[in-house]
Amino acid sequence: MVPLIDLKIQHQSIASEVETAIKKVCDNTAFILSDEMKQFESEFAAFCGSKYGIGVANGTEALFLALLALCVGSGDEVIVPANTFIATAAAVSHTGATPVFVDCDPETYCIDPAKICSAITDKTKAIMPVHLYGHPADMDAIMNIARGSGLKVIEDCAQAHGTHYKGKQVGSIGDAAGFSFYPSKTLGAYGDAGMVMTNSDEVADKLKLLRDNGRTTWYEHSIIGYNSRLDGLQAAILRVKLKYLDKWVEGRRSHAKQYQEALSGIDGLVLPIEKPYAQHSYYVYVVRAANREDFMAKLKENGCGCGIHYPLPLHLQPAFSFLGGKEGDCPVAEEYAKQIVSIPMFPELTPEQMNEAIEVIKQGAG
Ligand SMILES: Cc1ncc(COP(=O)(O)O)c(C=O)c1O
Repeated sequence: MVPLIDLKIQHQSIASEVETAIKKVCDNTAFILSDEMKQFESEFAAFCGSKYGIGVANGTEALFLALLALCVGSGDEVIVPANTFIATAAAVSHTGATPVFVDCDPETYCIDPAKICSAITDKTKAIMPVHLYGHPADMDAIMNIARGSGLKVIEDCAQAHGTHYKGKQVGSIGDAAGFSFYPSKTLGAYGDAGMVMTNSDEVADKLKLLRDNGRTTWYEHSIIGYNSRLDGLQAAILRVKLKYLDKWVEGRRSHAKQYQEALSGIDGLVLPIEKPYAQHSYYVYVVRAANREDFMAKLKENGCGCGIHYPLPLHLQPAFSFLGGKEGDCPVAEEYAKQIVSIPMFPELTPEQMNEAIEVIKQGAG
């Protein structure tokens, strides 16, 4: 059996360090806005090459609060990719703004910069590219469009811990960025957690107010904020895990290389690419299969885990039907949504598991 993902092996490899970190937080009863959180904020900001990291409750709220801090709200429009997890667009809706869906680049699956300009209106306030599956969106092209049109850019980095764009870690390029530390992410907490990155002093100050009920002193509040803090236990665990992030991304990249070598050239199977500007972190390894149902059935029958990220583009999701999206609006995302399959990818996959997965995938595609 080769699972799509297995979090237990990673936990076992760091269990004693994690238990020590948890004990320290409990012994100090340092649960909220603690030193552990502040240290993790600095360490992860340094990792990303960003001036500030502001710990928040989860990745959805990281995006939501980043939008609020950049003054996005009711009456505004925000450009997002059609093919992403719903949280990207939900974060926009939570501010009162409207998500505007744009199709994806056929090679990278990230938002297609060539299709952004025609989606800009006089209500557009921001662009939110997603570094989907761990491949970076084409940030230079996106930043050029944004700067030329006076728009803000918020990077959705939920799937892109350790992803590079032109040698830079993502999360440090836009006006702000949101990370998720959902447990299955490349850097995952032991519950929900998230962080906003920014290089702006003003945005960072606003985010600190927004995440903590607008608090300036204990019972003085300058704005109506939210309760969205990264808790001390998660921060302590994430500090332990951050030390291994480069090694884990390297593990993912090495498995991707093996898949590439073993599976390229198979009829009916399209492998992911890595653009010259990119260093992919392979949060998920997504192939396209001509006959997906049959392919997935064969994988499952033969003990190889698989999944779909994501089966329905956002403009066709019932939750966004009020926006009037229809088939044909984003043809590439729609076509790919019927073909994409995620195959096993996590750093701890053993050589035996990799060989087994490759054999089953070869047979399944044949
Ligand atoms: C692209 C993307 N954006 C946002 C999120 C939201 O993160 P969270 O689950 O931590 O709220 C996710 C999480 O799966 C995601 O994949």
